[in-house]
Amino acid sequence: MENNLPIENPSLSRRQLLNFLTGAVVATTAGASLYPALKFFIPPQEKTQGGAILAKDVLGNPIPAGQILANPAGTRALVAGLAGEPTYLTVRDDGTLHPWGIVDNCTHLGCTFPWNEIDQQFQCPCHGSRYSPEGVVLRGPANLPLKLVRVTVEGEAIWLSPWTENDPRTGNNPWWV
Ligand code: FES
Repeated sequence: MENNLPIENPSLSRRQLLNFLTGAVVATTAGASLYPALKFFIPPQEKTQGGAILAKDVLGNPIPAGQILANPAGTRALVAGLAGEPTYLTVRDDGTLHPWGIVDNCTHLGCTFPWNEIDQQFQCPCHGSRYSPEGVVLRGPANLPLKLVRVTVEGEAIWLSPWTENDPRTGNNPWWV
């Protein structure tokens, strides 16, 4: 007579259990070792406040307001701003930060430029455009004022947000909006 009952095979069960345990150990080990690598490639969540971001230094660390305000009046401090754009912050005579920052991006062809303390101008080294301390074109070939961002200080936090109101230098809609 034929026996149709399933044959119990204890050794097969043990093999399955071992395979399962081995797989679990391998998966856990791989996950634990890959996590730091994956975390490295995933950019950290940007701390924002209603579209504003914190001004940062070259290493991506937030810059405390006191660090910039420790400089003399008239200082143009370069920070990493919105979308990583380098942005000049100005220390005013009353020891506060100017409420607008000037984006370090020439409106001619996009070069970055230094602040010339002696001439009191932003001077683009690429094709010679010059801008006033407020970012107004003094000499071409650039023909648009420098882009602004709003600067708000809360305690030690310097928040930068898009400037969407009228351009205070022209009274018109900003060209970058
Ligand atoms: S890019 Fe600045 S003058 Fe041309």
